[in-house]
Amino acid sequence: MISSTILLTILPVVLAVPHPMITPAPTLRDAPTKVRGYHQQRDIIDDVTSDLKGLTSYVESVLGSYPSYVADGVANFFQDFPTGSSVQSSLGLSDDQIDALPTSVLNIPSYANWTEQGWNLRYRGNVYKQPNTSTEDLNELANVFLIGTDITSLPAAEQDQARNLTAEIFVIQQGGENVTFHIEPAASQGGDGESGGGNSVTPGGGAQNVTLMGQTTVEGDFDQFIPLANVSGPGGYLLAGNATLSPQRLNVYTNGSLIGNATSYLVPPTGLTIISDIDDILRITKIYEPAQGLLNSFAKAFVPWMDMPTIYANWSSSLPDTHFHYLTTTPEQVTRNYMDFIYKTYPGGSFDTRPLNFSDVSATLSIRKFLLDKIFETYPQRKFILVADTSNSDVMKDYPAMVTDYPNQVQCIFLRNTSSTDSGDKFPYDTSGFEGINQNMYMFFNVPDDLNDLDISNGQCYNASVIQNVTFSEQGLPFGLSESAASRTGMGWSVTAFAVAASLSFALL
Ligand SMILES: *[C@@H]1O[C@H](CO)[C@@H](O)[C@H](O)[C@H]1NC(C)=O
Ligand SMILES: *[C@@H]1O[C@H](CO)[C@@H](O)[C@H](O)[C@H]1NC(C)=O
Ligand SMILES: *[C@@H]1O[C@H](CO)[C@@H](O)[C@H](O)[C@H]1NC(C)=O
Ligand SMILES: *[C@@H]1O[C@H](CO)[C@@H](O)[C@H](O)[C@H]1NC(C)=O
Ligand SMILES: *[C@@H]1O[C@H](CO)[C@@H](O)[C@H](O)[C@H]1NC(C)=O
Ligand SMILES: *[C@@H]1O[C@H](CO)[C@@H](O)[C@H](O)[C@H]1NC(C)=O
Ligand SMILES: *[C@@H]1O[C@H](CO)[C@@H](O)[C@H](O)[C@H]1NC(C)=O
Ligand SMILES: *[C@@H]1O[C@H](CO)[C@@H](O)[C@H](O)[C@H]1NC(C)=O
Ligand SMILES: *[C@@H]1O[C@H](CO)[C@@H](O)[C@H](O)[C@H]1NC(C)=O
Ligand SMILES: *[C@@H]1O[C@H](CO)[C@@H](O)[C@H](O)[C@H]1NC(C)=O
Ligand SMILES: *[C@@H]1O[C@H](CO)[C@@H](O)[C@H](O)[C@H]1NC(C)=O
Ligand SMILES: *[C@@H]1O[C@H](CO)[C@@H](O)[C@H](O)[C@H]1NC(C)=O
Repeated sequence: MISSTILLTILPVVLAVPHPMITPAPTLRDAPTKVRGYHQQRDIIDDVTSDLKGLTSYVESVLGSYPSYVADGVANFFQDFPTGSSVQSSLGLSDDQIDALPTSVLNIPSYANWTEQGWNLRYRGNVYKQPNTSTEDLNELANVFLIGTDITSLPAAEQDQARNLTAEIFVIQQGGENVTFHIEPAASQGGDGESGGGNSVTPGGGAQNVTLMGQTTVEGDFDQFIPLANVSGPGGYLLAGNATLSPQRLNVYTNGSLIGNATSYLVPPTGLTIISDIDDILRITKIYEPAQGLLNSFAKAFVPWMDMPTIYANWSSSLPDTHFHYLTTTPEQVTRNYMDFIYKTYPGGSFDTRPLNFSDVSATLSIRKFLLDKIFETYPQRKFILVADTSNSDVMKDYPAMVTDYPNQVQCIFLRNTSSTDSGDKFPYDTSGFEGINQNMYMFFNVPDDLNDLDISNGQCYNASVIQNVTFSEQGLPFGLSESAASRTGMGWSVTAFAVAASLSFALL
């Protein structure tokens, strides 16, 4: 039995998805205020095209100021996950039952920079307990995410995946914990994919134990840099950062947690780092088609997008010493599934996902820039290749901003134009940030083949045969809705995008 509070805590997820195929779960219909809002919302959305202003102010007032899924420009289902005590109480677990559970650690593959004190390694992750939730309870919880689809109607493999993800979300976070790691040279990165990123090497030594300073945050998170001691091993020492161009691999095992292993990278001060988003560039998500996006995120096995694995494999072998860093704003709770897919499909590398303390709306909007700033500041002399797609409004703003904020550090920006190949993408995107940037530095591309035959190391990042069609303003709006219609609302395109998507959805009812 699951109490209704837990269902209410994830209600915003449901409201985040205005789509015809999606009928809210019955439990949610009975929720007092927000559900009334949902029906009103439908009425108002019906005449959205004639009264955009009415809708946008309505969205603001009913759903609060700038709900994050609106502000992101696209429905965002991975929102408002439950935290510590709400999971415990909703599953009816006593403190004794919690105490008896083993402690698990999500240890996110990270990176080190070379400093006056030697290698400075970042430790980032989360300490939690995984309750033994029954299949029935997981089904009930999964159904809330799978709006409009009953989990039992899915094929067995998809049911397992949906329960697996749901279980990862419904964990009990452990604050105030001490965390200790054991470090060893890594022969390869775990998983069946290509081992290592960009020909990274195994150091000769460096085995040691490290204890984090202080304890985990209330959300169970940790994130800190600690210098590594230069200890010798059977094969010698760690190579100094100014004595090699190759990233070195270290395994970082969390003491006391069998699933707390990660491979981290010691990355030299100079060289190339590829920072890659994952959804709709490395895998098919269709985040801009809410019903499909939900199933692709919660139930279906992750599928690579076209030939992208070939492109990355080529970059990994033809751009020696390249460091791969996967930077997505998907919440930390689902990181394991993303890592599992990436390491089976793409070159090994470090990871960044949304930390748990980024929960309120303004914080949600700032995550990508926060994560980008962190890695740029860690490597002030490295050059970065930024890869993503046009369906994220934060990418469209933050990627070009890195060009001005960190002069000479951005080598290339590659953005898949999801609207050009996918008629299901009705969301506009804003290219104004690219005005004034040298065309050689960036490319809006349609299919992975467009990325062939570039000379990335010499800064030739544009394939002249790929039509750019960049207006340096908002573009890609369907049905000839004009820019002025949206600017009249004074709210910008995010809200307009929501309104348009909503009108498309409900028009079909
Ligand atoms: C390498 O870095 C160390 C520590 O910063 C410094 O002591 C040493 O002189 C450097 N070596 C070279 C060749 O620059
Ligand atoms: C989890 O619960 C199921 C039955 O509810 C039981 O069969 C299983 O042994 C439990 N697993 C653990 C690790 O406690
Ligand atoms: C964490 O370590 C400190 C000493 O560094 C100790 O006082 C404290 O009891 C430890 N906390 C836990 C939960 O083990
Ligand atoms: C690390 O700690 C373990 C005990 O947990 C100990 O057996 C091992 O020798 C330590 N390793 C180093 C390199 O200090
Ligand atoms: C560690 O010490 C060895 C021997 O002094 C030296 O060759 C190596 O460069 C040092 N490595 C680091 C990472 O400081
Ligand atoms: C690792 O944890 C075990 C108990 O789980 C403890 O005995 C050991 O001292 C720990 N090692 C370190 C290096 O903290
Ligand atoms: C993590 O590493 C430890 C130590 O090598 C190993 O025993 C354990 O099986 C590993 N866990 C996973 C999930 O690979
Ligand atoms: C879910 O799947 C991932 C990836 O296969 C795995 O690492 C993880 O342990 C699973 N989680 C649960 C709660 O079963
Ligand atoms: C989250 O925590 C990190 C440190 O772990 C901090 O730098 C960041 O500002 C925090 N963000 C928010 C939104 O609280
Ligand atoms: C290493 O990274 C830390 C954390 O981002 C940063 O504060 C520091 O300036 C970096 N050091 C160097 C030498 O780049
Ligand atoms: C592989 O990557 C290299 C370096 O970017 C590039 O020169 C080469 O053309 C690529 N090969 C293909 C088939 O794209
Ligand atoms: C170029 O963009 C405009 C505005 O988004 C669009 O109407 C047009 O179809 C696009 N043309 C091509 C060739 O992609």
